Amino acid sequence: MILIDGKQTAAHLKEKIRSEVDQFLLKGLRPPHLVAVLVGEDPASLAYVKSKERQSQKVGFKSTLLHYDDDISEADLLKIINQLNRDDAVDGYIVQLPLPAHIDAQKIIMAVDPQKDVDGFHPMNLGKMLANLPTFLPATPYGILELIKQYNLPTEGKNVLIIGRSLIVGRPLSILLSQKRQGGNATVTVAHSKTRNLKDLCLQADIIITALGKANFLTGDMVKEGVIVIDAGINEIAAPEKKRGYKLVGDVDFESISRKASYLTPVPGGVGPMTIAMLLQNTLKAYKQRL
Ligand code: GUN
Repeated sequence: MILIDGKQTAAHLKEKIRSEVDQFLLKGLRPPHLVAVLVGEDPASLAYVKSKERQSQKVGFKSTLLHYDDDISEADLLKIINQLNRDDAVDGYIVQLPLPAHIDAQKIIMAVDPQKDVDGFHPMNLGKMLANLPTFLPATPYGILELIKQYNLPTEGKNVLIIGRSLIVGRPLSILLSQKRQGGNATVTVAHSKTRNLKDLCLQADIIITALGKANFLTGDMVKEGVIVIDAGINEIAAPEKKRGYKLVGDVDFESISRKASYLTPVPGGVGPMTIAMLLQNTLKAYKQRL
């Protein structure tokens, strides 16, 4: 079994981004500027945006975190979005999801200027993705495509099963992997909570991508020998032995899957670091488009 090293792959990508940024700085230009908008105190969201901020600074970007209380009104958040759209010193920004229930996330996403939408969640950018036009690809699917490319994983004609149909991972990934492209041309099935016979589908799959958010969901008895497994899940489970009291695991039961898979991404250190690297890649693209 080959462990897919997302941390190292992301590190290479970030080195490339860093050297491109250095070239711009040498020419006397300002650095790319990424803003993250966070509402509320969800510890997982806070950890993500802090990590995004740290990694941005490491590649030489300017990074700003706008953090608001979870009782901010939808109208006030829309005002902030409009300010970010108008601010020439901001190249790209993300609004960390999920948002509190009183805010309509779709309304917020629709308000983001598609040219600054480095998450690739705006319908304009999702539409371009569907039409196979250049755009900002959502960071997690983009990171998974990049891992497939770097590890030369065969996708053409393969049965790919994606478990999970979220806007952030499953749905965009299903489009990208079925498109006519290198790292595409797959026969894609999207499974979700209403799917019947999931185990049968898993046993037929050459590649399984889990993005459902359930710890240890996929087990060795559900997959065929030699399967490629990409785990996009991030779940917190109690771990009294750890100082912070919890640890991060994916959707895959690592121990039993690792005995059958030919390739497997670990959690942490697999898809997660790639998501951040691709967000930085999108921000660099947004910056270059605005030069
Ligand atoms: N929440 C979980 N993943 C993401 C992501 O990639 N972008 C945003 N904005 N929120 C998220």
